This record gives sequence, C-alpha cells and structure tokens, in this order.
Amino acid sequence: MQSDAALMEASLIAVADSGIELRHPLFARWFAAWPERRATFINADASSRRMTDETLEMMLGLAKGEEQWVGPLVDELAFTHRSYGRLPWAEYESWIDLTIVVLGELAGAAWHADAEAAWLRQGERLKVLIQAARIGWDEAMPGHVLGT
Ligand code: HEM
Repeated sequence: MQSDAALMEASLIAVADSGIELRHPLFARWFAAWPERRATFINADASSRRMTDETLEMMLGLAKGEEQWVGPLVDELAFTHRSYGRLPWAEYESWIDLTIVVLGELAGAAWHADAEAAWLRQGERLKVLIQAARIGWDEAMPGHVLGT
C-alpha cells in the first residue's frame, strides 16, 4: 500500500513527462467555469505559475505531514487574496477540484483510483485549512476586504 505522498509524487512525474504545463489547461478550464474572474488577474502569466505550484505543493506538503509550513502559507494565501475582493468559496472549491481533474487528465495512463483518492483526500484537507484561514482573517480584521 503506497502512501498518499508517494502516489501523488508519481502522478506529478507523469504530468511532467507529458510535457504540458498543468497551469495552461487548468486556467483555461477554471476561467471557462468562472469567466468573470479573468479580469481580476492583472498578470495571469506570472500568477498562474505561482498559484498552480503553490496549490500542488500545499496538497503534497499535507500528504507528507508538513503542516508546519503549509499552515502559515495557507494563512498568507487567505490574507493576500483578500486584496482581490470577497472571492466566493465556490470558486476556491472549484479551483482545487479542477486542479485534480486536470492533473488526472495529464497523468494519462499513470492515473488510477488510488492516486485520485490520495489527491482528493489532501484536496479536502486543504479546503478545510483555507476555509478556516478565511474565517480567521474575517474575524481578526472585519471590514478589511475591499467592497465590504
Ligand atoms: C489553493 C488555492 C490558491 C493558491 C495556493 C493561490 C495562490 C496564488 C499565488 C501564489 C498568487 C500570486 C501572487 C503574487 O504573485 O503576488 C495568486 C494570485 C492570484 N490569485 Fe490565487 N491562489 C489560490 C486560489 C485562488 C482562487 C480560488 C482565486 C479566485 C477565486 C484566486 C485569485 C487570485 C488572483 C485574482 C490573483 C492575482 C492575479 C494577478 O494579479 O495577476 N486564487 N494566487
């Protein structure tokens, strides 16, 4: 029985071997789902690299039991993203869900039920952390979010 971390690393290697940058199909799908979100991205090329990389590394970090750095990074993410207005939770969930869907598509033959279950498990953990961080900032700094 392989660990979640081992399963996830194997699928990341398969994605790298595909030669396709995950961020391109991922952002295309995400913007197709939420077309009004595209305008919020001033520099989509730079942001798509960091947003994709950090999402993947947060899930992998959780799988490896590395909450000591994932936790603070999630807190920072929730704080910096307040600058973009009140981002709907459904878009966050969809971002993480689509990251895993597109990852599976690019991993091709290397993708299987155990790998998918590992990513979904860690994705759900990441959602719980982000949700808690968002609520925490709202309570600590009410009214900070632009437009509210
Ligand atoms: C796990 C989830 C996410 C992570 C780890 C993440 C991470 C990041 C990072 C690292 C950046 C780049 C910041 C910079 O370069 O200064 C960024 C930018 C951004 N993110 Fe996210 N993000 C996530 C989810 C989301 C979601 C769900 C939304 C919208 C609903 C969103 C909207 C944005 C916007 C609007 C920018 C700025 C883009 C720009 O100005 O070009 N992010 N994100």
